[in-house]
Amino acid sequence: MASLRSLLVLFVLSAVTVSPASSQTCSSPKLTNSNLYAACLDLPSLSSALHYSYDAANKSAAVAFVAKPAQSGGWVSWALNPTGMGMVGAQALIAFKDSSTGAMTVKTYNVSSYASVKQSKISFEVWDMSAEENSGDGTMRIYAKFKVPGDASKLNHVWQVGPSVTDGMPDKHDFAQANLASKGTLDLVAGQSTSTADGSRTKKKNIHGILNVVSWGIMFPVGIIIARYVRTFPSADPVWFYLHVSCQFSAYVIGVAGWGTGLKLGSESPSVVYSNHRNIGIALFCLATVQIFALLLRPKKDHKYRTYWNIYHHGVGYAILILGILNIFKGYDILKPGEKWKTAYIIVISILGGIAVFLEAITWIVVLRRRSNKSTKPYDGYNNGQSRQEPLAL
Ligand SMILES: *[C@@H]1O[C@H](CO)[C@@H](O)[C@H](O)[C@H]1NC(C)=O
Ligand SMILES: *[C@@H]1O[C@H](CO)[C@@H](O)[C@H](O)[C@H]1NC(C)=O
Repeated sequence: MASLRSLLVLFVLSAVTVSPASSQTCSSPKLTNSNLYAACLDLPSLSSALHYSYDAANKSAAVAFVAKPAQSGGWVSWALNPTGMGMVGAQALIAFKDSSTGAMTVKTYNVSSYASVKQSKISFEVWDMSAEENSGDGTMRIYAKFKVPGDASKLNHVWQVGPSVTDGMPDKHDFAQANLASKGTLDLVAGQSTSTADGSRTKKKNIHGILNVVSWGIMFPVGIIIARYVRTFPSADPVWFYLHVSCQFSAYVIGVAGWGTGLKLGSESPSVVYSNHRNIGIALFCLATVQIFALLLRPKKDHKYRTYWNIYHHGVGYAILILGILNIFKGYDILKPGEKWKTAYIIVISILGGIAVFLEAITWIVVLRRRSNKSTKPYDGYNNGQSRQEPLAL
């Protein structure tokens, strides 16, 4: 069981560490005219993606920007900023649905200041502009070709989504963390977008995810499996107990570290609050801390209060199991690390579930057989037969 545990931990760790922080893969669905674009990037905020091709011979590029407007009837925008980082100075393409014709349009804007977003010519040549809306998932796409202004391996780009359009003018976008982080340096040659401030944050999020999946998501369940099933076998006493305690204690230490990284991430983005995920996290920390300290208050096996302690210990343990797994799925929905990581975890937790069901059946067989032996032999020499049958108590 211990080797199974280390195997699983190893599996998950190796699976996660090979994932580069700024992945070049793209989860954005392939575009129907995808033969136009050699590469695709998931942009690090606002769930958007950029498909592109770069033609070094004449310094031209073709892009397709995909994002979902903040609300239906809103707008999406992708821009290059030849003069600096961020919004001021951006030469933007903005797409929205024209209210008079109902057709998607894309227009160019010279964003000279926050106050002034004027529809105008932009500072570099653009052609073949068009936009479309995917009514299935609500995303909008901007297609364009342009003459690359400046160094194609170091372009400042910025993207945005907004909630509404009034009289043909895009309305102000939100100023949440994701809206402020949506800028970076685009390398059309090597195919990367690194966002200046976001790199270390992505790393922190990955660490937060790994620590919590390993501890609450894998080690805690494994520790419960050890306690519930391994001790059915008299020869495993007291080994199961030490395995259980060391597994849960390491899970606790890793889990508290993961919890701490979560609090840090939360405090760094006060404008975005995931209250359910946060509250479940706090509850988990409290329950697990109580659980660790309860070990010190454990009455002796034959003490009259031991039954109550067992009920309490098992109850808190199962609550941690359920809340931990639930919160991991909430975390996957928040960080969206890519479908494959969620799938990998679903596979791991299903294998653990399968093992638990299998051992549950074995335990019943062993315990029932032991009981029928007992009925022919009134006294079998065990003086703690009571506690051996405990796995069936819950
Ligand atoms: C650059 O080359 C590509 C492919 O040869 C061509 O389709 C495109 O029109 C050219 N762009 C310009 C600005 O000449
Ligand atoms: C954009 O606006 C700024 C400030 O008004 C101006 O200096 C600049 O020439 C404009 N750019 C274009 C391409 O019109």
